[in-house]
Amino acid sequence: MTGSVDLRGGDWLDDNRANWDERVPIHVASDFYDQGPLRVGGSVLDPISRAGVGRLFPDGLASARVLHLQCHFGSDTLSLANLGATVVGLDFSRPAVEEARRMAAELDVDGRARFVEANLYDARHVLPEPESFDLVFTTWGTIGWLPDVAEWARIIAWFLKPGGRLFFADGHPAAYVFDGADGPGGMPTFQYPYAKAGPDVLDDDSDYADADASLVNARTWEWMHPLDEVFGSLRAAGLTIDDFTEHYEVPWQIFPATVPKGDGMFGWPAERWLPLSYELVASAPAS
Ligand SMILES: C[S@@+](CC[C@H](N)C(=O)[O-])C[C@H]1O[C@@H](n2cnc3c(N)ncnc32)[C@H](O)[C@@H]1O
Repeated sequence: MTGSVDLRGGDWLDDNRANWDERVPIHVASDFYDQGPLRVGGSVLDPISRAGVGRLFPDGLASARVLHLQCHFGSDTLSLANLGATVVGLDFSRPAVEEARRMAAELDVDGRARFVEANLYDARHVLPEPESFDLVFTTWGTIGWLPDVAEWARIIAWFLKPGGRLFFADGHPAAYVFDGADGPGGMPTFQYPYAKAGPDVLDDDSDYADADASLVNARTWEWMHPLDEVFGSLRAAGLTIDDFTEHYEVPWQIFPATVPKGDGMFGWPAERWLPLSYELVASAPAS
């Protein structure tokens, strides 16, 4: 849900960028973002992304050009590079992009890994390469920072080659209506509307990757995007939805009641109360 927001600038962009800039060194130093596997040529992709990309590229990523939107400091981007892809990562945080470039050089994949510092909504201006990617990859904590999913979808469609695919995975909006641990047995309770128009402007100094962190730039602007908005935006941009799967696990502890399920994933302790995440594959017309 968009409301009227200037997509190219304003308090929402400044506040969110300051928040993410501050998180970068905290995340780089955290166990949550363990870079060890990257340093031995491996991947830190979560199991949902790993399996999803594997299904899209059963013969491997060696000839694939991948655009990773909202790439943070490049862990997943460099995982895809380690799997053989030629990658471009885009993020609006300068410290994130600087760290991604540093890591790409350390891993000696900088010939196949480029990082661009930009607001998502400026992507077509800073990366004038229409129809040049086999895969647009964007996962976990992305569209919630974006006011306008219709424009996001148009940007993705603009970058995809004919027949190119989008791989998208994120927290499920049905789960995002809940929060906290005040329900029976420490379960989260209903707190937010599913289809709120306009942003939630939050002041929260905590960070999901480091329980000890206390952020100075605590204000964020976040948007709920119902499933029909995501599906409708991708379709309106000319993409076909090829695959959609709801998952009962997510790669961070989304609620205190969720428990480790192995491989970095968290899920409900017993019943599958409601989906915690989803993955979606969409494709551009073949020609
Ligand atoms: C939760 S992180 C994504 C993390 C990613 N899944 C990972 O673990 O590598 C969200 C990212 O979106 C970026 N971001 C937020 N708003 C953005 C915008 N308007 N344009 C570009 N990047 C943005 C932030 O800088 C941050 O790196």
